[in-house]
Amino acid sequence: MARQVPIGVLVSGSGTNLQAIIDEIEAKRLDAKIEVVLSNKADAYGLVRAKNHRIATEVLDHKQFSSREAYDQAVVDILHARGVELVVLAGFMRLLSPVFVKAYSNRIMNIHPALLPSFPGLHVQKKAVDHGVRFSGCTVHFVNEECDEGPIIIQAVVPVFPDDSEESLAARILKQEHRIYPRAIQLYAEGRLHVEGRRVLVDGLAKDGNEVLFQPPLE
Ligand code: GRF
Repeated sequence: MARQVPIGVLVSGSGTNLQAIIDEIEAKRLDAKIEVVLSNKADAYGLVRAKNHRIATEVLDHKQFSSREAYDQAVVDILHARGVELVVLAGFMRLLSPVFVKAYSNRIMNIHPALLPSFPGLHVQKKAVDHGVRFSGCTVHFVNEECDEGPIIIQAVVPVFPDDSEESLAARILKQEHRIYPRAIQLYAEGRLHVEGRRVLVDGLAKDGNEVLFQPPLE
C-alpha cells in the first residue's frame, strides 16, 4: 500500500468534491489523509462536511488581508504548519498568486468543470451549452500561475444533449468530477505523476490511457 499523502483541501462552497475525496479515503481506495480543510468563507458547507468526519478546519477570510499575496502567504503558513504536501482546490473561488504557486510548485491540483483548454474561467457549463458543443466534461490539472492553464492530469468527457440546461449539464459533469478527482490524487499518492513542460507523464500508464481519460457510456 502506498503511503498516506498529507493533503489540504481548500473550499469556498458546498464541497461535494471534498465529500467524494473523504468517501474514497474512508473506503481505502485513496491513500491520502486530509490534514485540514480551509475556507475563505465561514459559511461554506464544505466545513460542515469536514467536521462531520472529524477533520480539522480553518477559516481565513480574505477580506481581512491587505493584499492577495498577504492572504496567500497566511494560507501557505497554515498548510506548512499542518504538514500538507499536496494542496487540493475543490471549489476554492480565488485566484492564487505566485507566492502560493511557488510555495507548492506542481503540488497544487484543481478541478475545472470543462474540457480545458476550452472554457476556462467561470460559468463554463452555461458557456458550453450556449456555444453548442457536443461534448464537455471536467479536468483535473496542476495549478500554475495562469488561471485554469496548468498541466492536465485527468479528463472525463460527457455528452451535451440538445435540450440540456446549464443545470442539467453541470449535474452530469459534477458526477464525473467526483470520480476523477480522487483518482488524480491517488496517482499522485502512488508517485506516478511527473510534469514535463506542459505535459503530465504518468508512470505505468496502459497504452489506452484508461486511468487518465474517462468516457462514460452515453446515458
Ligand atoms: C465544481 O464544479 C468544480 O469543478 C468547480 O467548483 C465546483 C465545486 O463544487 N471548481 P463543490 O463545492 O465541490 O460541490
